[in-house]
Amino acid sequence: MKAITTTNLTKKFADLTAVDGISFSVNSGEVFGFLGPNGAGKTTTIRMLTGQLLPSSGQATVAGFDIHSERECLKPKIGVIFEFQNLYERLSAKDNLNFMRQLYGVKQARVDQVLDQVGLKDRANEKLKNYSNGMKQRLLIARALLHEPEILFMDEPTRGLDPVIALQIRQLISQLALEGRTIFLTTHYMEEADRLCDRVAIINHGRVIALDTPLKLKENFGPTLEDAYIELTGHSMESSVLR
Ligand SMILES: Nc1ncnc2c1ncn2[C@@H]1O[C@H](COP(=O)(O)OP(=O)(O)OP(=O)(O)O)[C@@H](O)[C@H]1O
Ligand SMILES: [Mg+2]
Repeated sequence: MKAITTTNLTKKFADLTAVDGISFSVNSGEVFGFLGPNGAGKTTTIRMLTGQLLPSSGQATVAGFDIHSERECLKPKIGVIFEFQNLYERLSAKDNLNFMRQLYGVKQARVDQVLDQVGLKDRANEKLKNYSNGMKQRLLIARALLHEPEILFMDEPTRGLDPVIALQIRQLISQLALEGRTIFLTTHYMEEADRLCDRVAIINHGRVIALDTPLKLKENFGPTLEDAYIELTGHSMESSVLR
């Protein structure tokens, strides 16, 4: 079964085409990497697929529902983790989740369960203003998991985190994949994509320019996924200030 399908999905902002007719599908239970340079259209694609932004043209389905006409049906099926999402700094982690729990109609026991899953159980009653970035990121993941979504959209979940915390988040992502959830992941860390993703799409200037397993991309454009990425996106170090 397909968790996500897109057909000629396009988003224009005035005369800028941010997402330019992309067509691909994501299998159910897959960890799907969505990689590309800054401004390539990754976040815009996620915003369309999660019902936050209307496409200019084209179609997409998420969990079998049309993102436009069946937007309300897909919401219970998905969890979304963006950077800079609003958390209530003056509340504890637990109270942040309790607030969301009431909106979703989820049982209290589920709050303790997700806090445990992301390793925040011991500090659940502390106010968020005392939290580090890594702890906040884990809380965002906990919040996205509250209603047991089938599909998780993660927009740069390890950005700005120290290597140990980033590793913990990656382990959490692997664990969520083992539970059978589909994960749509953007990251600028090629090693992370290589380790976690079943398949990877590379998007450049709003278009999907490659889509394959990390192994195949390395074989064809490698030797590493980073080399393949640089080869495909045409980012040349030679023209940079490093010269
Ligand atoms: N609301 C908006 N209004 C106008 N232009 C926008 C809007 N949102 C995004 N864009 C533009 O669309 C293009 C794609 O942006 P997007 O945020 O999707 O890129 P991205 O691939 O997520 O990049 P990054 O890796 O930096 O997060 C960029 O040129 C951006 O400036
Ligand atoms: Mg982005």
